[in-house]
Amino acid sequence: MSVLQALFTLAVAVTHITAAAQAAAAAAAGMAQYDLTSVLAQHLDRHLVFPLLEFLGSKGTYAEKDIEAAKLALIEKTNMVDYAVDIYQQLNQTDEVPESLRQRRVEVVARLKSLEAAVKPITEFLSEEGNVKLLKQDKAQNMAFLQKEFGIGPDQIDALYHFAKWNFECGNYSAAAEYLYHYRTLSTNPERTISSLWGKVAADVLLQEFGPAMDDVLKLKELLDVDTFAPVAKQLQQKAWLMHWSLFVFFNHENGLNALIDLFMQDRYLTAIQLTSQHLLRYLAVAVVVNKRRRNVLNDLKRVVAQEAYEYSDPVTEFVRCLFVEYDFEGAQEQLAKCEEVLDGDFFLVAAKDAFMEAARQFLFENYCRLHQAISIKSLSEKLNLGEEATEKWIVNLIRNARLNAKIDSKAGTVVMQTQTQSAYEQLLERSRGLGLRTIDLSNAVFGAMRA
Ligand SMILES: *[C@@H]1O[C@H](CO)[C@@H](O)[C@H](O)[C@H]1NC(C)=O
Ligand SMILES: *[C@@H]1O[C@H](CO)[C@@H](O)[C@H](O)[C@H]1NC(C)=O
Repeated sequence: MSVLQALFTLAVAVTHITAAAQAAAAAAAGMAQYDLTSVLAQHLDRHLVFPLLEFLGSKGTYAEKDIEAAKLALIEKTNMVDYAVDIYQQLNQTDEVPESLRQRRVEVVARLKSLEAAVKPITEFLSEEGNVKLLKQDKAQNMAFLQKEFGIGPDQIDALYHFAKWNFECGNYSAAAEYLYHYRTLSTNPERTISSLWGKVAADVLLQEFGPAMDDVLKLKELLDVDTFAPVAKQLQQKAWLMHWSLFVFFNHENGLNALIDLFMQDRYLTAIQLTSQHLLRYLAVAVVVNKRRRNVLNDLKRVVAQEAYEYSDPVTEFVRCLFVEYDFEGAQEQLAKCEEVLDGDFFLVAAKDAFMEAARQFLFENYCRLHQAISIKSLSEKLNLGEEATEKWIVNLIRNARLNAKIDSKAGTVVMQTQTQSAYEQLLERSRGLGLRTIDLSNAVFGAMRA
């Protein structure tokens, strides 16, 4: 743990954010109430918290001053001294540079000086493109070769690691990613190898290189999975970190939602969620609801959400619980109305908001339909939190796409469920035959009838 913490320290000063949350709670009760930033930050590298704060700033969830103070608390311990000075001066309306930051700048420069000599042979070696190709699979062979030909030994390789960290702390994530990559191919220190992989994931995320980040998350998982000799508390903590760090990847990578479900639903990870990070259920629930191909995991999700409801709940998990566990449609409908706001205020989920709302409405509707023969469109529109006209359109679309086995009775203003003997698709075929080659333009038919 010590090495890991030394490199990518995770204990973030979240007190500012928490204070900000409390201060803002009165003013903006809505947004701040479900904001998880301060909880998530406890499991993230401080650099990774930055994008979250930027997002909160853009949403106006908290007072700008509080956000800036939280940023300052994050970066005053990094090497981004000039940035810290800027924020400080702006916050305090002053031109003066505080002594602590002046001191910090001296330390940062001194650290570079002490690394420079040791790291020079290796950065020079790496800067020649052809050189890297000379390296082989066998690490021992490489070591002998590098020592003999370039005067690069364990001290230089060690310095490469620290130089990567120095760059990372300066916010030079591309340099950090590159050096960490090379470090990992050269290093024979298992703990440092894991540590450099954590750093690589963070650097990739901050560079928005989500493909390489995904590869590294999976590699890291493999390494952690075989590290079963570590104390249980450490194993749990590392699993929790991995899940938090990978949120950046999972909600940005094209196959991310599947990967999220695969990781979070593994027994040992699900246990880690239940023991240390129940709030992650929000992200798991969204991934499952949105991902239509993974309905098979719905039962597990239901179970965990219900078990943890006393420990953690928010509108997303409550929607799942009301709908799938309690069959409480009124409750689910109330929660769904709140979900929109929750997702809109969540850095990771904002982009998935529309897909979630659509899928959630469909779930609500399908489950409701199972219990009812005929449903009034008016009451349905209330349940779905959509206008009546939008509700009609939406149902027509479901019918057209053969996802719903129903008819619209426009006179009565109801949707009438068909018996389940034929699949919706078969019914559709049947009807389309009846209509000959004309397309089954149900929407025109229905709306035409309604306007008449
Ligand atoms: C500068 O601002 C910070 C953050 O608002 C505050 O904690 C600190 O006391 C201020 N310092 C001075 C000298 O005004
Ligand atoms: C990042 O580091 C690389 C390699 O040391 C250097 O060439 C580059 O100028 C640095 N970038 C910034 C923005 O400091």
